[in-house]
Amino acid sequence: MKGVILAGGLGTRLYPLTFATNKHLLPVYDKPMIYYPIQTLVKAGIKEILVVVSGPHSGHYIHVLKNGKEFGINHLEFAYQEKPDGGIADALLLAEDFSDGKPIVAILGDNTTDADISKEAKDFKNGALVFLKKVVDAKRFGVPRFDRDKQTIIEILEKPKEPPSDYAVTGLYMYDKNVFDYVRRCKSSWRGELEITEVNNFYIKAKKLRWAELKGYWLDAGTFDTLLLGNLYWAKKNNPGRLKMLMKELGLL
Ligand code: DAU
Repeated sequence: MKGVILAGGLGTRLYPLTFATNKHLLPVYDKPMIYYPIQTLVKAGIKEILVVVSGPHSGHYIHVLKNGKEFGINHLEFAYQEKPDGGIADALLLAEDFSDGKPIVAILGDNTTDADISKEAKDFKNGALVFLKKVVDAKRFGVPRFDRDKQTIIEILEKPKEPPSDYAVTGLYMYDKNVFDYVRRCKSSWRGELEITEVNNFYIKAKKLRWAELKGYWLDAGTFDTLLLGNLYWAKKNNPGRLKMLMKELGLL
């Protein structure tokens, strides 16, 4: 399977940090944010990757990712999203030629996780697969509404005021080739974007959407607080002694 990392958008929630560079190049502990979705794909055996970029700092990516070899990527491509904040679905449309009629894994450039999706990637054949994670602040995400059986998703709501469940649809998706036709049927949302949630709802209507719980840590690092949390989580995971020392220095331990 091929993979696409959606790393466009303007990162306005992180102004003024994103005045000078793209959100996905900001540090998450000792690595630029985009390293994490790359690692997730490469760990799952996905080594042909398209990175969708947009906005004024698109050129910065090449300095950081180069040809992708140091990450174990065999083939790295970039695509430029003309409307920088056209939406996740708009960015995904740029992967149509790259996917060549075959299924594709999409991951948001600001999602960091240590989950292993190799099995799902290996087994995926058709329809769509979304990964859910239990959260305390579901309002910030796409949120599934389940049928009475608590298993079948009957609808996904984008940032609902009253979430119908305490699950977030994470920014990790697997789609068959129909995804691009569904994107073309999307209408611009209240935030002026083509929403991935609308695409997922098309799959639900066609009874072709499945879900799995994402096993492991997951974080959308797109706000100041979650960016800080992401830094702390990865520091703790990769260098626990050092974080402890720093916390002591700050008087937090
Ligand atoms: O993190 C999971 C959530 O991500 C999902 O639960 C939501 O359903 C989904 O809509 C999305 O919500 P956000 O509001 O957090 O999305 P955001 O606008 O922050 O975009 C996430 C990433 O998608 C961003 O880091 C880069 C990429 N993107 C975004 C836009 C708007 C693009 O490549 N192009 C774009 O035009």
